[in-house]
Amino acid sequence: MTLPIAIIGAGIAGLSAAQALKKAGHSVHLFDKGHGSGGRMASKRSDVGALDLGAQYFTARDRRFVDEVQQWANAGWAKPWSPQLFQCRSGQLSPSPDEQLRWVGVPRMSAITRGLLDGHTVNFGCRITEVFRGQAYWHLQDAEGNNHGPYSRVVIAVPAPQATPLLAATPKLAAVAANVQMEPVWAIALAFEQSLDTPMQGCFVQDSALDWVARNRSKPGRDEPLDTWVLHAGSPWSKQHIDLSKDAVIEQLRGEFAELLHCAVPAPAFSVAHRWLYARPAGHHEWGALADADQGLYACGDWCLSGRVEGAWLSGLEAARRLLEHLD
Ligand code: FAD
Ligand code: NAI
Repeated sequence: MTLPIAIIGAGIAGLSAAQALKKAGHSVHLFDKGHGSGGRMASKRSDVGALDLGAQYFTARDRRFVDEVQQWANAGWAKPWSPQLFQCRSGQLSPSPDEQLRWVGVPRMSAITRGLLDGHTVNFGCRITEVFRGQAYWHLQDAEGNNHGPYSRVVIAVPAPQATPLLAATPKLAAVAANVQMEPVWAIALAFEQSLDTPMQGCFVQDSALDWVARNRSKPGRDEPLDTWVLHAGSPWSKQHIDLSKDAVIEQLRGEFAELLHCAVPAPAFSVAHRWLYARPAGHHEWGALADADQGLYACGDWCLSGRVEGAWLSGLEAARRLLEHLD
């Protein structure tokens, strides 16, 4: 009997590993503590439509990822987004157009991981707390005390701080993950009855609490009735205000937004805030993935490469490659 491979985390890294392993003829079993796929590429459903509170868009530079994104586009899951871009430095707002091809999921960011889920066995709402080896095989324990397994191998595809305890069976890898700092980001969305009087659709911000501003409705495939915006605070501000209430975060970032636009921003008809505790790795690593091939334990995620969607996808692919290589 060939046992399945367990994958913890149904974000883009876990799903990339799942796709590659399935292609090679293996059966995989995914677990995610969330109620849907996507992790930091998920979208929040709300009264004013689905809002991309995490990843805003992605670029594709590695040939393998370029080809993958083309498949997503062919499947209708992704489209290019060409926003009217601005930048704001020391309070000076200016247009900042460029030629970069940027992609988004359609009709929402989560459409991509939703598409990639197809045909996989997934346990949602299942937080894994322990990965342990029985006599010869791997088992998982979840937060409710349930046991899952046996599995031939385990791929851990979660942010580094969450991977560390799950890697306890292989202390070397646990130590590597424990040394990766990940920084928080406060994200808010605001929806206005009347469209704001600005041509801006995306803005890279410096020297401000804010780091990024996007007109969610300007992305392809969105049919939101209101003028919806997503604002990201930078990591320094987010760290300083980590325990602020959601209402206070919304008020403060709305004030920063008004300063950026040099105009009053009306009270929104709808607002929401989300605190990403592990939004991005503080540094850059080139590990690809972590592997203890003798034991059959692997770790991947954006923190093993660039802290971007592309890096996460490539890291999942690398974890699968290293796992398959060891089977040969
Ligand atoms: P994740 O997406 O974090 O997936 C990990 C999954 O594991 C999650 O679904 C989580 O629920 C699950 N999980 C965690 N612990 C457990 C457990 N114990 N048991 C079960 N499940 C568990 N990248 C870009 O390229 N462009 C951008 O514009 C961009 N903007 C961003 C903006 C924000 C605010 C944030 C937060 C990120 C942004 N990123 C962006 C980064 C990008 O979203 C990530 O690099 C990428 O989505 C990471 O994918 P991942 O699979 O490695 O991790
Ligand atoms: P990219 O090439 O569009 O952007 C990379 C960086 O270049 C930007 O952050 C910005 O500083 C600068 N830049 C790009 N185009 C610009 C323009 N027209 N005008 C002014 N500055 C410009 O995309 P890439 O390399 O794929 O990066 C993805 C994006 O995801 C980045 O913006 C990054 O900051 C963001 N990100 C955000 C995270 C978060 O937690 N908020 C986590 C990970 C990535």
